[in-house]
Amino acid sequence: MSRLLLRTDLAPAPPPPSNGSGGRRADAQLASGLPRADTLVCSRANRPYAPGVSGLQPPPVSLRCPPMSNRVINFNAGPSGLPLPALERAQKEFLDFQGTGMSIMEHSHRGKDYESVHNEAIKLLTELLGVPDTHQVLFLQGGASHQFAMLPMNLRTEEHAGDYVLTGAWSQKALDEAKIVGKPAVAADTAVEGKFTRVPKQSELKLSANAPYVHITSNNTIFGTQFFDFPNTGNVPLIADMSSDILWRPTDVSKFGMIYAGAQKNIGPSGVTVVIMRKDLIEKSRKDIPKVLRYSTHAKENSLYNTAPTFAIYMVRNVLAVLKDMGGLPALEKQNRKKGEILYAAIDQSSGYFKCPVEKESRSVMNVVFRLPSEPLEEKFVSEAKKAGMVGLKGHRSVGGIRVSQYNAVTVEAVQKLVGFMDTFRKANG
Ligand SMILES: Cc1ncc(COP(=O)(O)O)c(C=O)c1O
Repeated sequence: MSRLLLRTDLAPAPPPPSNGSGGRRADAQLASGLPRADTLVCSRANRPYAPGVSGLQPPPVSLRCPPMSNRVINFNAGPSGLPLPALERAQKEFLDFQGTGMSIMEHSHRGKDYESVHNEAIKLLTELLGVPDTHQVLFLQGGASHQFAMLPMNLRTEEHAGDYVLTGAWSQKALDEAKIVGKPAVAADTAVEGKFTRVPKQSELKLSANAPYVHITSNNTIFGTQFFDFPNTGNVPLIADMSSDILWRPTDVSKFGMIYAGAQKNIGPSGVTVVIMRKDLIEKSRKDIPKVLRYSTHAKENSLYNTAPTFAIYMVRNVLAVLKDMGGLPALEKQNRKKGEILYAAIDQSSGYFKCPVEKESRSVMNVVFRLPSEPLEEKFVSEAKKAGMVGLKGHRSVGGIRVSQYNAVTVEAVQKLVGFMDTFRKANG
């Protein structure tokens, strides 16, 4: 019966050739008797090919060293494209993290090698966002959806489980979870016949004085709306699901009781959720819920109460380091606003061929949605864009149309290319 070969099945390997790093690299001898993978050379760049992880056989040539020109322009809504230098850094360190002879994902979450990555990710996020001492950064699991449930479980009172501002499908889901554990209220609902085309004004909010918090979705990934001014909630903590717009611009964190975001759009890969929470709220959160679901448990252990999603956090570290190198949030805001201007101008100047259903003051800079004259044309648009090297343009299945997700990793040049394509498409299919 065939079985996977474990390291202990292998005959002792000859000592690895020097890789020049002086690292403590373990043997990479292939069990199959194929040549050592690190003796293979990438034909494109003449760089050593990193060994196959399974140790059974090397991957096909196409996977050895993907030419960078094969990378598409990725407008996916999430998981989304990540900055290339963050991926390249991971590629470089993948098998041998800083001379330790193993991948970061093979390290113990309790070891000092991983711990320094973990703390660096927290430090970078704190620096980039200017997180004040009053708040703590947590890395949790379960995605933003898990926060929909964890938040009311921790902060509800007997009388109230939060005021919810309904601006789309995600805020509705957050409200639904709160209803399971307590008695939330709806502070505003901007739906018209099931469609959301704007975020509410301050004057429309019906806030309860005894609410433990007010919940908003700062950017509505599906409907393409975004808050540019946050509601004033007085003494009631404001809590924002920033899954699709965290880090798009400088943000005054002190205004929030809590910010949370699934990492897979603007911060890194899926698998880790960033929570930035006021320390007094962490302390006063409920203790009559399972320990693993309490913010206080994770805060006390610096998000290492149980095994953290180490590789995802490592990638977050890589992405944050790149964002810092790019000039931090002021530079990103400039770039993001420019992308928004270019794309909305192309829509508005298309003589009605492209139509954005969102009211102007609520138009999201992160997720730009629009329609073409017909659904068949939309399908053609998506498929021809793909042929031109641009993917991820199909609108969410619940609303249809086109959605351009232009998170931090999407460059101005990428949006310019898309706009050029839109113009050509319109002329050919008008
Ligand atoms: C604004 C927003 N909130 C929540 C979610 C759900 O996130 P997750 O899949 O991480 O639970 C999404 C997913 O796209 C989102 O865009």
